[in-house]
Amino acid sequence: MKVLGIESSCDETAAALVEDGRRILSNEVASQIEIHARYGGVVPEVASRQHTLAIIPTIRRAMDKALTDWTAVEAVAVTQGPGLAGSLLVGVSVAKALALARGKPLIGVNHLEAHIYANWLGETEPEFPLLCLIVSGGHTDLVYMKEHGKFILLGHTRDDAAGEAFDKSARILNLGYPGGPAIDKAASSGVPSLDLPRAWLPGTCDFSFSGLKTALYRLAECGQIANVQDAAASFQSAVVEVLVTKTIAAAKECRAKQILLSGGVAANKKLRETFKERSHIPVLIPPPLLCTDNAAMVAACGYYQYRQGRSDRLDMDVIPDLQLISR
Ligand code: KG4
Ligand code: ZN
Repeated sequence: MKVLGIESSCDETAAALVEDGRRILSNEVASQIEIHARYGGVVPEVASRQHTLAIIPTIRRAMDKALTDWTAVEAVAVTQGPGLAGSLLVGVSVAKALALARGKPLIGVNHLEAHIYANWLGETEPEFPLLCLIVSGGHTDLVYMKEHGKFILLGHTRDDAAGEAFDKSARILNLGYPGGPAIDKAASSGVPSLDLPRAWLPGTCDFSFSGLKTALYRLAECGQIANVQDAAASFQSAVVEVLVTKTIAAAKECRAKQILLSGGVAANKKLRETFKERSHIPVLIPPPLLCTDNAAMVAACGYYQYRQGRSDRLDMDVIPDLQLISR
C-alpha cells in the first residue's frame, strides 16, 4: 500500500511516497534554510509563502521519482500540527484538494508522532515497548510507547527545546544559522574544556536547557571564550550527557526493549555515538536526513494510522499546538 506524505509544518516543504509504512519510494525536501538564514531564524510569513511556491513542484517530483501514478496511491497523509499555522495550512489545503480530486482517504498526522515513525523506515523494525526521545527545534519529549498509537509522555523540557538551545548557543558563538549543524561541526575539532552546568532535575524525566545557554552567554559576555570550537564542544557535551543519561535511566525504569531517537537534534554525531556507546538496549536512530523534517516519516505514520482504520474528514483543520496523544 502506497501512501503520499506531505509535510509543511515549519521551513521544509516535503513530499514522499512510502510503501507499507516502511519502504521509501521517494523523499523530496525543498529546504528554505538559505532564505531564513539572513534573518537568523524562521520568519513565519515568509515560510508560508515559500511553501505555496514549492509544494506542487515538490509533490510532482516525489510522484515522478517513485514512478507512481494516482491509481497506485492509496491515501494522502499530511502534517496537521504542531507547527506554524500559515505553513501547516498550505500542506493541509493541498492534501485536502488532492484527496477530494483523486477520491483518496485523508489522514492528518501529528508531526511529533511522525518523527517517531521515521524509525519504521530503517532495516530493523522497532519492537514494543519503546522509549522514544524526540529532540527537535520545538520539542524535547520522553515518550513511552506500548503499541502503535499509544503514547505516555514521561517528561518534557521545562524551557528551551534541545534544538532551540543549539540554535541560540550557536548565535552566542557567532556560528550562524541553523545552529545545530554548526555546533556539531565546530565541536568536532574542539575539546569540552569549559565547565558548564547540567540541569538534572532529579526524580523527574524533565529537561531544562535555558540555564546552560545563559551560562554560555555569560562567559561570552565576559570575554572568557578563548576558543569557539572548545566552547561548542563543551555546550554539546552538556546537552548530550543529560539527554543520554536521563533517557537510558527512563528506559531501564520502564523496561523498554529499545530506545528510539528522532527529531533534528538526533542528527547530532556526538549524541548518536554516545547513545550507542552507553545504552544497555538497542538504540534505533534514523539516518540524519530522516531525523530532520521530511515527508517520508509522515507517510509512514499515516500508513500505520490508516491500517488501524483512522482517516479524517475534509473539514479537518490545522492544530498549531497539537500535543502527542494516544488514539
Ligand atoms: O526536527 P526538526 O528538523 O524541526 C522541528 O520539528 O523543529 O529540528 C530542527 C532542529 C533545529 O533546532 C536544528 O538546529 C537541530 O534540529 N539540528 C541539530 C543538528 N541538525 C539539526 N542539532 C544538533 N546537531 C545537528 N547535527
Ligand atoms: Zn520536526
